[in-house]
Amino acid sequence: MVMLAPSPIHRDIERVVLAETQIQQRVRELGGQLSTDYAGRTLTLVGVFAGAALFLADLARAIAPTVTVHLDVVGVSSYGHGTTTNGRPTITQIPELPLANRDIVLVEDIIDSGATVWFLREQFQLVWGARSVRVCALLDKQPHLCRAEYLGFACDPVFVVGYGLDYAEAYRGLPYVGVLKPSIYQSA
Ligand code: IMP
Ligand code: MG
Repeated sequence: MVMLAPSPIHRDIERVVLAETQIQQRVRELGGQLSTDYAGRTLTLVGVFAGAALFLADLARAIAPTVTVHLDVVGVSSYGHGTTTNGRPTITQIPELPLANRDIVLVEDIIDSGATVWFLREQFQLVWGARSVRVCALLDKQPHLCRAEYLGFACDPVFVVGYGLDYAEAYRGLPYVGVLKPSIYQSA
């Protein structure tokens, strides 16, 4: 078996909050839960692009073949290039698959105010006519509000990047999640 060395920490990262192995373990568990809940059915996983791209790819591979998995993405904009939300999500890319009467799991990188997830649930159910909409989020900054049916980890209210999460489109490819050094966004 080939042993992979841990990735070196990027110089703009203050500290790692979720190591690659922790993420992969939790994604396997979430895949197991979805495999149980959707066994024998067709499940449409819709990733919120681009932040959930890595999570979506790993999650899809963690779901057992007893579930027929369809994949799509939806584009939503609310953050621009800053580190705080403006609270008014808008659709920037609509899914290609037919969504009416489908069982959807929205795959999101991180929930902060909850505005994106709230808006998308309404959009998928009321506008696009999905039969059911659940949310699978890797991280939630306010997990006590229980806004995701499937949650990877609670997250401190700090700005994090990596494993799909960006700051001004950078750092998405890091295989771990880390806190960005404030000097990076303060000097922008
Ligand atoms: P909400 O609508 O306030 O819940 O914000 C959720 C969206 O904001 C997520 O889809 C992320 O794209 C982005 N976001 C929230 N917190 C962070 C963070 O710490 N790092 C990177 N993106 C974040
Ligand atoms: Mg996002």
